This record gives sequence, structure tokens and C-alpha cells, in this order.
Amino acid sequence: MTQKLAIVTGAARGIGLATTKLFLDQGWLVAMVDRDAAELELVATDLAGATAFVCDVSIPDQVTATLAAIEAQFGRADALVNNAGVADFGPLEEHDFARWRRVMETNLDGVFLVSQAALALLKKCQGAIVNIASISGLRASTLRLAYGTSKAAVIHMTKQQAAELGEYGIRANCVCPGPVRTKLAMAVHSQEIIDAYHDAIPLNRYGSEQEIGEVICFLCSDKASYVTGQIIAADGGFESTGVGLPALRATKG
Ligand SMILES: NC(=O)c1ccc[n+]([C@@H]2O[C@H](COP(=O)([O-])OP(=O)(O)OC[C@H]3O[C@@H](n4cnc5c(N)ncnc54)[C@H](O)[C@@H]3O)[C@@H](O)[C@H]2O)c1
Repeated sequence: MTQKLAIVTGAARGIGLATTKLFLDQGWLVAMVDRDAAELELVATDLAGATAFVCDVSIPDQVTATLAAIEAQFGRADALVNNAGVADFGPLEEHDFARWRRVMETNLDGVFLVSQAALALLKKCQGAIVNIASISGLRASTLRLAYGTSKAAVIHMTKQQAAELGEYGIRANCVCPGPVRTKLAMAVHSQEIIDAYHDAIPLNRYGSEQEIGEVICFLCSDKASYVTGQIIAADGGFESTGVGLPALRATKG
């Protein structure tokens, strides 16, 4: 098989689905991994070059079996995009251990498990890892004790991966999206949060799934062949700024 293969987790919708479509447009094959079997199979049917793998990335046995199936079918992995994630916002005092684990098991354990299971295939192809964190992992905010901490850990895991995997020619980078109107975000973004984001983002708008996917695909491509260990915010400028934006804007709204 000469065509490149990308493994994209959380591919059934949102940023993962948009990224899948961009890889396909660029002539890659895509192994779409998601635990939402119904949605995954529905979207994958219409995408030539995509194959659906139903898998919960937080369950070690499922991850092992899925990577074995990908190896049997494709025998390679040129890119791994660890995108599957869950968001659960709430006050710090209302975070019990069950809530903490629910977030950590997908957002952090899942990235660890899939990366470790994909290592042999990535080594074979000198592949690239792109982990999806969040601006919530770069800057603390309210309601995100588990979510923000899980994403900060993913940012650091990326640097660990880059440090040790470079000698195999494997690059590891991290994309931190700003707000995007996906199902995940809309379930936790109240009107107050939406307004706060607009006030804090120089580009003064949410991003699109495709805008995040473009950065992911670039980091997986040969165009980024000397880029590793980097944390890239695709966030309309959120991370770069402090207070005062709304007061200085020439146009309001
Ligand atoms: N949308 C945003 O505003 C935003 C901002 C910053 C970071 N992110 C991150 O981007 C990534 C994608 O988010 P999205 O907004 O596209 O969300 P989404 O909810 O639209 O899609 C997430 C997908 O991941 C799948 N998934 C969740 N847990 C899984 C698991 N344990 N195993 C397998 N699949 C699982 C879901 O079924 C879903 O298809 C997440 O890691 C999220 O934290 C999103």
C-alpha cells in the first residue's frame, strides 16, 4: 500500500470529521475511530477512502484490538490525530471523582493509550502525532478543573513524545483550538461564555471545524517536516492577549 494513512480519533463529527475530509481531499486514506457507532458508520459510508473503526479510546482492550485491525488492513500509520474528547464544565466544588475520571479517561488516558498502541506503525512510517488540547489547557478559566487540567496534561505529553520519539523520525505536535460551534462546545457554552469569548478574541468570532483541521493537516504533512514538540493555538488570538479588547474595538459586536 503506497497511499498514506491517517488515524483520526473522535472522527464521527465536529473537528475530527472536518479533519478526516481534509485528509481525504489531499489523497490520504483515513481510519476513522469513534465510540459513537451509529454516527460513525453513517458518516463513513459516504466518504471514499475512509474506514470506520468503532472504539472507545479510554478502554485499553478496545484500543489494542482497533490498532491490530488497522495494522492488518493497512500495515501503516503516517499520522495519528488524537482528537476524541469530552467537555464537562462545572464549579470546582462540584467536581467529584467520578466527574474527574470521566473527563480524564477520554481526554488524557485516551491520548496515552492510542499513542502507545500506534507506536510500532508510526515508527515504520516515521509518522506524525497531533494531539488536540485546547486553549483551556493554556490558560485557566472558571468551570474547567478537570477539562483544563486534562488538556494541560496533553500539552505536556506532546513534549514528552517529541523528546523521545524524534530519534525514530516521529514528530509530535499539539493543536489548541479556540471555541468552535460543535456539539461538544454548544453543550457547555452558555450565552455568558459565548459573550466572554467574543470579548477575549481579537478576531472576534468562533473558529470553524475546517480552520482547526487545516492546522492539524499541515502539522501531519511533509511541509512541517522540521516541526516537532510545538503547541499551536488556532484560537483567533485568544491566548496572545490580555484585558481591554472590547474597549479598544472600533466596531462593537
Ligand atoms: N469545539 C470546541 O470549542 C473545542 C475547543 C477546544 C478544544 N476542543 C477539542 O477538540 C476535540 C474535538 O472536539 P469537538 O468540538 O469536535 O467535539 P464533538 O463532540 O463534536 O466530537 C467529539 C467526538 O469524539 C467522540 N468521542 C468522545 N469520547 C470518545 C471516546 N472515549 N472514544 C472514542 N470517541 C470518543 C465523540 O463520539 C464525538 O464524535 C476535543 O478533544 C475537544 O476537547 C474543542
